[in-house]
Amino acid sequence: MTILIHIRPFELDDSRTILEMEEEIFHEPNPVLYSVIENYPTEGFLVAEYDGVVCGYLVGALIMDEARVLLLAVKEGYRKKKVGTSLMEYYIDTVRSRANLIRLEVRVNNLGAQTFYFKLGFKFLGVVSKYYRNGDNAYIMLKPLDQLTLFL
Ligand SMILES: CC(C)(COP(=O)(O)OP(=O)(O)OC[C@H]1O[C@@H](n2cnc3c(N)ncnc32)[C@H](O)[C@@H]1OP(=O)(O)O)[C@@H](O)C(=O)NCCC(=O)NCCS
Repeated sequence: MTILIHIRPFELDDSRTILEMEEEIFHEPNPVLYSVIENYPTEGFLVAEYDGVVCGYLVGALIMDEARVLLLAVKEGYRKKKVGTSLMEYYIDTVRSRANLIRLEVRVNNLGAQTFYFKLGFKFLGVVSKYYRNGDNAYIMLKPLDQLTLFL
């Protein structure tokens, strides 16, 4: 039996599932998520289904030639099955013709996510002090797209 990972734009019917997932994973409401749901339809809000089950999401925003990944999460139990990779690859494909780079922030203690991004070709650019509400620092990571060569 072939298990299919399906990536598609967020639909309003996904709201409850996505908000529950966010709560389960991050344990606090995220204003960005409420904002993109309120402003539906939002370009760059993607949902992943694994075997028909909604199990991940990505929120991206295009600012000039820079594509930001604001949120990315995969439900526990569905991790390490390439769901995160599929979300990121789909997002990159949608912005590739308009962006020169993908940028994101990741908690300095989130080694799992850093390894995941590194495997997708992201590089460390620097660190931002007290980026998160609880005072945690963030690494900025970048992935150059076709037109850009980084001197990193
Ligand atoms: C980070 C996250 C999105 C990765 O999603 P995923 O669907 O599990 O990732 P994939 O299956 O596509 O992983 C691809 C590769 O990344 C690496 N990777 C993924 N998660 C990893 C982890 N926890 N530790 C080390 N490497 C990891 C692996 O090399 C993996 O390939 P492999 O399974 O063949 O070894 C997911 O773990 C998650 O939602 N974490 C909690 C929320 C979070 O931290 N979000 C990011 C905030 S910046």
